[in-house]
Amino acid sequence: MRHVVVPEDLSAHEVEAVFAVSADLQEKYEQGRRDALLPGRVLALVFEKQSLRTRVSFQAAMVHLGGSSLFLGEDTGFASSREGIADFGRVLSEYVDVIVCRSKAHDTIVQLASVAEVPVINGLSDYCHPCQALADIYTLKRHVGRVAGLTLTFVGDGNNVARSLAMLCGLLGMRFVLAAPKAYQFEPAFCSHLAAVVPQAEIVQTTDPVEAVTGASVVYTDVWASMGQEKERARRMQDLRAYQVNEALMKHCPDALFMHCLPARRGEEVTDGVIDGPQSVVVEEAANRMHVQKGLLAWLLT
Ligand code: CP
Ligand code: NVA
Repeated sequence: MRHVVVPEDLSAHEVEAVFAVSADLQEKYEQGRRDALLPGRVLALVFEKQSLRTRVSFQAAMVHLGGSSLFLGEDTGFASSREGIADFGRVLSEYVDVIVCRSKAHDTIVQLASVAEVPVINGLSDYCHPCQALADIYTLKRHVGRVAGLTLTFVGDGNNVARSLAMLCGLLGMRFVLAAPKAYQFEPAFCSHLAAVVPQAEIVQTTDPVEAVTGASVVYTDVWASMGQEKERARRMQDLRAYQVNEALMKHCPDALFMHCLPARRGEEVTDGVIDGPQSVVVEEAANRMHVQKGLLAWLLT
């Protein structure tokens, strides 16, 4: 049994295998076909934070695969004083075949995976968002045909999404550049961990967004205050205002794709002109969440 709690729970070879299943299922889906690879299987979504894309794409994926899903919000008492995570996870494992968890603290998912008797997939934590990064790199691959040797530049806060992209880029032989003020760059502990997992990873951190996007195949951004950081919002808006992805910045990389995990704060980290512009693939990225998660579910459970 395998969990996907962090991107590095998959090897490069396994990511390629998941992408192959995803592409096959996507092609069939676009032809109006649904392959019932998981009949009678049940997915539980245990969520401590809001979600549109992750929740709905996983639930739709299970319907298309012939299975079903249960959305479990706050009223189940997960990670609360009602009962411990160990009892919750052991009991839930008796009812369902796979669990997707979105937690406030990353350690909650780690604890859940340590007790669950079925695969646990991270549907976002404060530390990382592996399913998002998988869909993003899948999207790039479908545009360019390959990913090794390409550069993905993330502009803004070195957050959960940025960490996941950096790790996945490293695993897949891509160059990852983070343009952020020093205080918003990756923590030394994450850099050492990444270097230990992928010694050949090429990770560059800079405070200069123009230098960072020049030559990039993808320019990526995300909100400046993630869920759980609402109290820091005013300071973050101030600190990150020079890192907005706008038309002037995108002029330095006219051939790059623009990506954003969504939801976006238009007018803050990205302008309407960029997110709605010709370089943007944000809706396709969101659509690919479903295709890649189908691939991941089928790969984990069959
Ligand atoms: N990108 C993403 O994970 O979106 P949701 O928060 O809506 O699931
Ligand atoms: N960094 C954002 C991503 C949302 C999909 C957050 O954690 O709120």
